[in-house]
Amino acid sequence: MAEVAALTRPDAIHWCDGSDEESEALIAQMQADGTLLPLNAETNPGSWLHRSHPDDVARVEHLTFVCTREQADAGPNNHWMAPDEAHAKVDALFDGCMRGRTLYVIPYCMGPIDSPLSRCGVEITDSPYVVANMRLMTRMGADALARIEREGAFVKGLHSIGELDPERRFIMHFPEELTIKSYGSGYGGNALLGKKCHALRIASFQARNEGWLAEHMLIVGIENPQGETHYVAAAFPSACGKTNLAMLIPPEGYRRDGWKVWTVGDDICWMRPGADGRLYAINPEAGYFGVAPGTSAKSNPNALETIRKNTIFTNVGLTADEQPWWEGLDNGQQPATDWRGNAYDPDQGPAAHPNARFTVSAKQCPSWSPMAEDPQGVPISAIVFGGRRASLVPLVFEARDWTHGVLVGAAMGSETTAAATGAVGVMRRDPMAMKPFCGYNFADYFGHWLSFDKTGAKLPKVFHVNWFRKGDDGKFLWPGFGDNLRVLEWMIGRVKGEAGGVETPIGHLPTADALNLDGVTLSEEAKAKLFGFERTGWKAEFDSIGEYLDGYGPRMPQALRDEQQRIAGL
Ligand code: GTP
Ligand code: MN
Ligand code: MN
Repeated sequence: MAEVAALTRPDAIHWCDGSDEESEALIAQMQADGTLLPLNAETNPGSWLHRSHPDDVARVEHLTFVCTREQADAGPNNHWMAPDEAHAKVDALFDGCMRGRTLYVIPYCMGPIDSPLSRCGVEITDSPYVVANMRLMTRMGADALARIEREGAFVKGLHSIGELDPERRFIMHFPEELTIKSYGSGYGGNALLGKKCHALRIASFQARNEGWLAEHMLIVGIENPQGETHYVAAAFPSACGKTNLAMLIPPEGYRRDGWKVWTVGDDICWMRPGADGRLYAINPEAGYFGVAPGTSAKSNPNALETIRKNTIFTNVGLTADEQPWWEGLDNGQQPATDWRGNAYDPDQGPAAHPNARFTVSAKQCPSWSPMAEDPQGVPISAIVFGGRRASLVPLVFEARDWTHGVLVGAAMGSETTAAATGAVGVMRRDPMAMKPFCGYNFADYFGHWLSFDKTGAKLPKVFHVNWFRKGDDGKFLWPGFGDNLRVLEWMIGRVKGEAGGVETPIGHLPTADALNLDGVTLSEEAKAKLFGFERTGWKAEFDSIGEYLDGYGPRMPQALRDEQQRIAGL
């Protein structure tokens, strides 16, 4: 601490205790300096708008580094810099950077405060906006500090918004030192260090050493009319539907029959084998940092209800009477101001930035599961991988066994979205939705996944879904959202050995009558594409998967190559 203060030279130091008084004082200060703009107190009580710097609106993968001693340990999936060089580079930026600012010390716990699966960290930052967000996204303050003092070990994070200059911006991870240094960005994924930096990049590395998994997955509980709840963990790349699936509202008929959906987590999942051999999962986060555009009373009513109060909106538009607005909100209102604060002009682009977000406490969600506080976590019945694939990939299939499931995850492909800077709509491999987040070599990561298949293990079944298959007219073929419960029901049926499937080289697909499609109209084209296996296309896909795995050289586990070879012969 003294070292950091000597380097960064803040005018003042504040230890965050997480109290309401502290939060109120910070908010008052941010309102006074324009960091937070008050929203309409009647429609959005306790809620604020933050406008980030227009050059600082998304994660920056090209400036994100994993700095292991050996480059090969970071793998071809990460940008790497030698630790000494990285420290020197970023420390030079931190030198004196907090002059005239307050340094905040944020002790936080990822996961329920009394859970053996939880891990703690301390983020030092000069951004009160980061403090306000960390307060919603983590268990921050006195309890976390007490646990840190008891345990000794914690992840050290140092953050400064610096000058918000894209030329002077780095997100550095030192997994061997449990250290993060982030400079020059105030945006969520770059600045809220508990989230992607700690709970995924550093935690995945820690998890490998300690025999658990840190994953970019939602956790959702599906309760059937008999009152039996199955928990499903699902990995989709950023902006591909995790928050939506986690908060799913059952279709009318299902609701009538008594189906319920419980949200445990919408972005990150930490899992480890329990004494009974099953995988148990916690959501390390305490809040949601969700994509706003596209969120509507139709697409995600639970999210809309969650963000009615006590929410921080980042980079959304405003109506004339200071209500938050974004494309796809569809509530009959019109935007007056865009996310930059200019008068809205459709020729100047959307009113909300495509990666505009809301930050809100998870407990405000109507479907919030009290099991999210359970220190033991929830037992996982099914693991789901999925991507945004306009062609080839059917609605759902089931992997044959764990090894095949690991290959299905490793081979995941998806079209890029606005969640990271760069081109949108380009197909890229995003294994297990962890391409931007795995803190070590993917070859070792797949090996770690394979290692869970051991005597006594009762592993979940593994599935793959694609909500984004398009027809010849370029429209989505599957209604998605609430109707995705139909697919989850089939999965749970498979777990229980009750639902029908046909075997194909890529795994089991639902039989024609295995999925409940009551109330859904699908064209013949849609049925063929959503439930069919296209041999020629998959042959090419498997060749491309083989090339991808080969790119990792001899470090890639042989078992995974064998599995790819076995299926490639289809
Ligand atoms: P991160 O929070 O960035 O990790 O992403 P996420 O996976 O939580 O993404 P989110 O749930 O916010 O997905 C946002 C986008 O996916 C929006 O454009 C939604 O409209 C779209 N989406 C979600 N579910 C479905 C679905 O079932 N069908 C279709 N067609 N689109 C969907
Ligand atoms: Mn995410
Ligand atoms: Mn999300």
